[in-house]
Amino acid sequence: MRSNDLRRQLRQIILATPFVAGIACGGGTAATRESVYPVAADAGNVCYVVCDAFADAGETVRNCSFDSLDGGPAVDCTFGPPVNTCGRRPAALLASSGAWGAHPVGALFADASRLEAASIDAFRILARELASCGAPAGLVRRTERAAADEVRHAGVTAHLARRYGAEPIAPAFGTATGPRSLAAIALENAAEGCVRETYGAIVAGWQARHAKDRSIARAMAAIADDEARHAELAWDISAWAEGRLSNAERRCCAAARSEALVALLRDLRQQVALDCVEIAGFPTPEVGQSLARGLARELRLQA
Ligand SMILES: [Fe+2]
Ligand SMILES: [Fe+2]
Repeated sequence: MRSNDLRRQLRQIILATPFVAGIACGGGTAATRESVYPVAADAGNVCYVVCDAFADAGETVRNCSFDSLDGGPAVDCTFGPPVNTCGRRPAALLASSGAWGAHPVGALFADASRLEAASIDAFRILARELASCGAPAGLVRRTERAAADEVRHAGVTAHLARRYGAEPIAPAFGTATGPRSLAAIALENAAEGCVRETYGAIVAGWQARHAKDRSIARAMAAIADDEARHAELAWDISAWAEGRLSNAERRCCAAARSEALVALLRDLRQQVALDCVEIAGFPTPEVGQSLARGLARELRLQA
């Protein structure tokens, strides 16, 4: 795939996806805290009303569904940090419990800064491993440049987190594995680079277009440009590395892309606080699904 083609495809996916205002209820997993709230029988779109109220109170509702209590209709809410899809996660990155009690936009960027900071490690490790596998110097240099981009992204997103009252979250890492085989590197790149980071580039571009906070829109426009370059890098690493693998290993990489797409679509069903949509331009669950399916279509990924 030529780089200009990928940039054009990413832009096309964003332009072809309609903006859907409002919050939808979604299914999902990863319950963090769950409560059931009674609502008035004539509350209309009750999930919307309830999620909005909690967003105002600084809570992020991940999922909600209609339920019933003895006293009548109710909404079943699951709370947790917003699901962020930015960044390339190194294998040793540990999960985070998020920025509790912060403004939803602050929590969103606190977690984004964690993932951006983790991406610095991911690219530094990748650059070292590519060099030791004999990758072309150009690929290694571009990977090192991506690590430098992520330093900038971590700083920008940390600043935005603080502007909305949240302390940036530092990434936590478990025990790192030793040097990996080319097949293992290609497998991780297939999921984290070709799917996750490529989708992250689309989201950054979407936020640049839809964030009402113009300083967020400007920051995301710059990040989107870098992330499109990282997506190109991921697909170029894929072409180089997978070209050196056996047929069976190549099939594993294709399967890793499919599994990453399925996991992404599952994550994108999570509820998003209204402030994150309006202020930060974060995609609603419906828009996220549409963007991810656009990605799958354009890049012929099978879910
Ligand atoms: Fe980044
Ligand atoms: Fe990136």
